[in-house]
Amino acid sequence: MSEVLKIENLTKHYINNQEEIEVLNNINLSVYESETISIQGISGVGKTTLLNLIGGFDSPTDGKIYIDNEDITVMNETELAHLRNRKIGYIFQSFYLLEELNILENIILPALKLGTSKTEAIERGYQISKFIGIEKRLKHYPSEISGGEKQRAAIARAIINNPKIICADEPTGNLDSKHKGIISDLLFSIVENNKQTLILVTHEEDLAKKCKARYLIENCSLIKN
Ligand SMILES: Nc1ncnc2c1ncn2[C@@H]1O[C@H](COP(=O)(O)OP(=O)(O)OP(=O)(O)O)[C@@H](O)[C@H]1O
Ligand SMILES: [Mg+2]
Repeated sequence: MSEVLKIENLTKHYINNQEEIEVLNNINLSVYESETISIQGISGVGKTTLLNLIGGFDSPTDGKIYIDNEDITVMNETELAHLRNRKIGYIFQSFYLLEELNILENIILPALKLGTSKTEAIERGYQISKFIGIEKRLKHYPSEISGGEKQRAAIARAIINNPKIICADEPTGNLDSKHKGIISDLLFSIVENNKQTLILVTHEEDLAKKCKARYLIENCSLIKN
């Protein structure tokens, strides 16, 4: 099975008011095709930091990150944006839907960025929206839909380009208990159907348990549970 993500000796420090904060220290991780992994740890421990590094939204202090054998730590912004669009679906902790675009436009944006024609992107957008159960809200704007609906839209946007890897940062964090169950079942069924790799950051024990491998960030280290 091929290795879709490899992290080697990854270290991340932030400098805040001239003080250096060590967040991640010498992290190593290998994740294979269609593997699901969870990353847990207390608030502020560095979970989002790690996902941001994997998505190329931030650069490491030291170490290497390979996505599908490509070293992303040497890529420029354009190369990173292109790789992200092709290979990574990112579900953010606070959705990040663009307020000025309606739900359909939000969902198909990554496809358009990748050069898919508008007709094809819309067709795919409709298909995915139906599957995800957001098809009745496509003309609404983000401010006009509920938290659960926003999360569905964010998932639809993350999978529109059929990425190899889905990075999900607390995908059920903003939902009530009923929607937590619905959204987590949906996410796992998508990943399984498309044989995608899932990297899931969560505080929810039930959700973490669904993953094949479980990790914990503690004292700047990534520990296998
Ligand atoms: N851009 C930044 N500049 C400086 N410090 C930062 C920055 N981003 C994060 N940090 C610090 O890094 C640490 C890890 O933050 P991170 O957001 O990764 O935590 P987390 O584990 O995702 O927490 P939560 O569970 O609350 O989402 C925190 O102490 C945070 O204050
Ligand atoms: Mg976080």
